[in-house]
Amino acid sequence: QLYGDTRANSQGVNIDIEADWEAFAAIIKPFMGTQWQAGPIVNGQLCQTGEQHSVTAPYQHSETVGQVYWADADTVQTAIAAAADFYPTWRATPVAERAAAIAKLGDLLEANYGELMALCHREAGKTLQDSIDEIREAVDFCRYYAVQAQEHLTTPHTSQDFNGTSFVTERQGRGVFACISPWNFPLAIFLGQVTAALAAGNTVIAKPAEQTSLIAYRAIELLLEAGVPAGAIQLLPGDGATVGAPLTSDVRIAGVAFTGSTETARLINRSLANRNTAPAPLIAETGGQNAMIIDSTSLPEQVVRDVVRSAFASAGQRCSALRVLFVQEDIAERVIPMIRGAMLEQVVGDPSLHQTDVGPVIDREAQAGLLAHIERMQQEATLIAQTPLPHNAEQGTFVAPTAFEINSIDQLGREQFGPILHVVRYKASELDQIIDRINATGYGLTLGIHSRNETTSVHITQRVRAGNMYVNRDQVGAVVGVQPFGGQGLSGTGPKAGGPHYLKRFTKTVRVTQA
Ligand code: SER
Repeated sequence: QLYGDTRANSQGVNIDIEADWEAFAAIIKPFMGTQWQAGPIVNGQLCQTGEQHSVTAPYQHSETVGQVYWADADTVQTAIAAAADFYPTWRATPVAERAAAIAKLGDLLEANYGELMALCHREAGKTLQDSIDEIREAVDFCRYYAVQAQEHLTTPHTSQDFNGTSFVTERQGRGVFACISPWNFPLAIFLGQVTAALAAGNTVIAKPAEQTSLIAYRAIELLLEAGVPAGAIQLLPGDGATVGAPLTSDVRIAGVAFTGSTETARLINRSLANRNTAPAPLIAETGGQNAMIIDSTSLPEQVVRDVVRSAFASAGQRCSALRVLFVQEDIAERVIPMIRGAMLEQVVGDPSLHQTDVGPVIDREAQAGLLAHIERMQQEATLIAQTPLPHNAEQGTFVAPTAFEINSIDQLGREQFGPILHVVRYKASELDQIIDRINATGYGLTLGIHSRNETTSVHITQRVRAGNMYVNRDQVGAVVGVQPFGGQGLSGTGPKAGGPHYLKRFTKTVRVTQA
């Protein structure tokens, strides 16, 4: 039996089932007034030398959630030195021991469900269903990477060469890995990167998004409790200029795992390349301009359910989320009014309430960008629907889910990372043209298809360049070990997170030949 080997994804809950929901509501309640404290963790110690920042709830700016010390320049240097010092010890630690600690973290995340849900909700503004899904995904990453490491990285590994002679290879961590993660999956993506890098034998410096340092801090406390030694994991909350830039320009960094914008990935790549040392790998998962194509054979009721979930769940703040819906003309007059109807039924508001479908966006900067786009679209496109906001929406950073009909995906420019859907009508004869337009964006993350005509769906999946395609379902919520996740082109470098090739990218291979 391998550590963490459940051969099953972690159990979820459908909050629409009242009895299930009540159990969750009871475990979150004690944390709804908690004030968390966080800061850099270097060699297991909290550092309180940098500036202190208050964290407020995105749905209610008068609600303080906690305080976080950001790392200062000296702390960044101490953390890099500590991670570099500990690397030889961690690299030499047996894979099973590393995997045991990471699998144990999965158990500790489950044991702390209530607190972590409250953090997802109060710090990141996630609805309770999204918070549950987030924790499940984090647990899955821990167990999956623990098992992957034991199956594929156990060293030395004996195989047969081309001539049938057995030979030995050893997979080793590369060194100090910098893991730079986003706020939209502040636990799952944060821990996905960190646990993969650790399982593979790297020491890690984790830089969480500025907006979500509290949950990252709690996750690292649990990682230490799970048995990962303090030298192996250093946490540096803070901004890109003080933390990210010195990390990616430092010659002691052996690789970077990054999830965020394509623009930032390019900066990191340049910074790594400009160092006066060997090139280091960048594993980047970046933006998208995700489309869904629905033809006249699709089922409107199913389409509407899947469009609404893909575009507006998590307030559209998933890299997988649907941005541009292509509707075949023959079915448009049925589908578009149904989308409008469903949008008017959605409930936007306090994400702690059971009935809320869509919570706030992460902060004022995100809100301002989305509102500016809505304003532009009001001049250039036709409004299909806008979900009403609650009366007290100005207390947080809410953006009303909004759908516009536009003429072409070319009107859009960069991705709008929020609850805004664009709809384009197309004629059956134009299918290949829209496929070309989707490919011409250069992005290739997710694609949705609704069609009961298999020839059409196969044709589309073969021609569109996208990393994750979904037929006759929604296009969000990739499951670890089931839908390895990651895009192509401007959407990312691969390998896919939660898939069988991910860990190897964090390692180097040594081939030992015996005389
Ligand atoms: N992994 C997430 C999803 O599939 C991406 O943001 O929705």
